[in-house]
Amino acid sequence: MSEYRKNAIVTGAAGGIGYATVKRLIGAGFTVTAMDVRPYEGEVMAMFENFGEDATYVAGNLAEEFSRQQLVDTALRVYGSIDVLCNVAGVAPKVRRDILEMTEESYDFVMDINTRGTLFLTQAVANRMLEQEPDENAVRGYIVNISSCSAYTSSPSRAEYCISKAGVSMITKLFADRLAGEGILVNEICPGIIATGMTAVVKEKYDRLIEDGLVPEGRWGYPDDIAKAVLSLCDGTLAYTTGQSLIVDGGMHIRRL
Ligand SMILES: NC(=O)c1ccc[n+]([C@@H]2O[C@H](COP(=O)([O-])OP(=O)(O)OC[C@H]3O[C@@H](n4cnc5c(N)ncnc54)[C@H](O)[C@@H]3O)[C@@H](O)[C@H]2O)c1
Repeated sequence: MSEYRKNAIVTGAAGGIGYATVKRLIGAGFTVTAMDVRPYEGEVMAMFENFGEDATYVAGNLAEEFSRQQLVDTALRVYGSIDVLCNVAGVAPKVRRDILEMTEESYDFVMDINTRGTLFLTQAVANRMLEQEPDENAVRGYIVNISSCSAYTSSPSRAEYCISKAGVSMITKLFADRLAGEGILVNEICPGIIATGMTAVVKEKYDRLIEDGLVPEGRWGYPDDIAKAVLSLCDGTLAYTTGQSLIVDGGMHIRRL
């Protein structure tokens, strides 16, 4: 990627995977417009102020059109282009309930952020990327979605999450197909079990499962395992790859006998 084309948006930037992604991207010479629903104060301020002009924080709700527009406008105003979009923001259901008891409210909460928010932010950014000149790899922009192993793995106690991530995987394919001829590459990562705030509430359960051999590599994934994979999908290394799902899960997806 050219020196002058390294401006990224990262959503969910104050969370485990999002923040690791911000750090990786800035380390690789990107500037980042970082968006998260957490307000810019206290811990979040301490996380971002050290980046100086390399990061601009936008507090907003991915589920709201106003916030998405504000994010895009800020990125363009501050850095002039959007060369990379990393859709990381996501939520689990507030309460795990069997699919027979799942509520419409919980379904809407999860789908509005994980799927509808990701879809329409991608749409807004893709339309801006289309106005940009291609770089030396004939690429106008890179989009990387964080889906999940839950896109293809059933957990009946958090069905809304699984459905939302299966939706993200289709969003990846649809935009990859639509935008490949326009020089915009769209790929996704399906993380396995990653140690972040999202999994902290089920740590003991996953500790036990990993100990019992669920993950062939025998350990939790770390946010930086995912951030490094994100970077490989948006730094020009894989400029002839689009519509791809990269599983980063320590081998958990391998069917074993
Ligand atoms: N941790 C895992 O094991 C795992 C596995 C597979 C996929 N994922 C996915 O990775 C992504 C990052 O999750 P994480 O594990 O870092 O969890 P996390 O909870 O640490 O981070 C998620 C971030 O998203 C932000 N967020 C939540 N709702 C938002 C909204 N409406 N608008 C903007 N930001 C919002 C949160 O404030 C938080 O900072 C999510 O999409 C998650 O589904 C995580």
